[in-house]
Order: sequence, then C-alpha cells, then structure tokens
Amino acid sequence: MDAPTAREKLRSATSDAHTSLDRHGLMKCLLEAEIPADAYVRLLRGYFAWFGPWEAHMKTRHPDLVAKFGSGRFEKSTWLQNDLSHFGPNKTPADLPVPAWSDDAAAMAGFTYVAEGSTMGGSHLAKRLPFPGALSFYASYGPELMTMWRGFIPKLDEVLTDSADCDRAIGAAKSAFEWFDGMFDWVVSGNE
Ligand code: HEM
Repeated sequence: MDAPTAREKLRSATSDAHTSLDRHGLMKCLLEAEIPADAYVRLLRGYFAWFGPWEAHMKTRHPDLVAKFGSGRFEKSTWLQNDLSHFGPNKTPADLPVPAWSDDAAAMAGFTYVAEGSTMGGSHLAKRLPFPGALSFYASYGPELMTMWRGFIPKLDEVLTDSADCDRAIGAAKSAFEWFDGMFDWVVSGNE
C-alpha cells in the first residue's frame, strides 16, 4: 500500500475536530439558513480576525509558500471585507487573540490546509443563506472550487517532505480547528 500523503495524514488527524465543528450550534443555524444578520456579521468579523493577520503574515514572512500555493488563495480577507461592507461601514475584525504565527513553513502549511479546507463547505451555504451581496467568502472560488482544491492537495507534499514536517503541520491544523471552534463560541456568546 502507498504511504499516506500529507493531505491524508492531515485529514485523518483533524477529522474529529471537523466533526466537532459540524456539531457546533452555530453550524446548525448556518446549515439551516436560520442565522440572524447580526450573528452572520459577527461570524464574518470572527473569520476576518483570523484571515487578516494570517494572510499578512504569509505574505511578509512566507512569500515562497504563497507563490507555491498560489497567491489567489491568500485573498480571503478581501472577500470578508466585501461581505462586511454590505452591512455598513466600519465593521471591524473581532477582537480575538489569534494563534502565534510561525516562521516554520511546515506549521504555516498546516494552517493553510485548514484555511483552504474551510472553503469546501461554503458553496452549499452560499446557495442558501439569505444575504445576497454578502456571500463572497462562502462562495469562495465558485465553479473553480474543486479544481482549486485538487490543485492544492499535491502542493502539501511538496512542502511537507518528511514525517516531522507533517507532525508540525498537524499540530498547527489542530490548533486552527480549536481556534475556529472558540470563535464560533464567541459569535454565539454575543460578547465583544
Ligand atoms: C457548515 C460548515 C461546513 C461544512 C458544511 C463543511 C463541509 C465540508 C465538506 C463536505 C468537506 C469535504 C469536501 C470533499 O472532500 O469533497 C470539507 C472539508 C474540509 N473542511 Fe469543512 N465544512 C464546514 C466548515 C468548515 C470549517 C469552519 C473549517 C475550518 C475552519 C473546515 C475545514 C475543512 C477542511 C480542512 C477540509 C478538508 C478535509 C480533507 O482533507 O478532505 N470546514 N468540509
């Protein structure tokens, strides 16, 4: 049997974390398109709190990774800004502490895996949520979604060349899932 790819290792190490996100009460509201506009705005602000600084870090400290994965994958904060502007001016990122970004390319590839993977559930949501004009983040790559995902998977093996790299990527990916879980709690809490 072939050795597992980096993506296969990441997927199996984080599948419980994905299941736990799927079971979050906020996800249920999203999937049933029953999320009120104010909670949707909080959710976008939560994503923005992560994607803004993560993309800035990737562009300044990991330009090689950005070039390898494709710079178009590092513009999700622009989508979020577009969606937030639909709800009025001055929508700020949530004031949530983000993970410690690293100079380690393997760890950052693990974060990138979660960031890219987060587009996969979006197309379904973009078709159902009642916020026309504010769905760029969930619509993400539109009809190119699967092509983009299939193009991403082999790049992980180019960056994560040994099992120590994979382990560090998995650690980062798990911490990213935990962060998103906490961010969903924040959305539901209503606290600033
Ligand atoms: C309602 C929300 C969500 C739904 C319905 C959903 C659904 C899905 C589906 C169907 C896939 C598999 C796609 C495929 O292989 O064909 C997937 C993959 C993935 N999702 Fe989600 N997802 C959601 C939220 C999230 C969030 C919030 C994150 C992380 C922040 C995330 C991270 C990932 C990752 C990393 C993968 C790739 C797994 C792999 O390697 O195959 N998802 N998601």
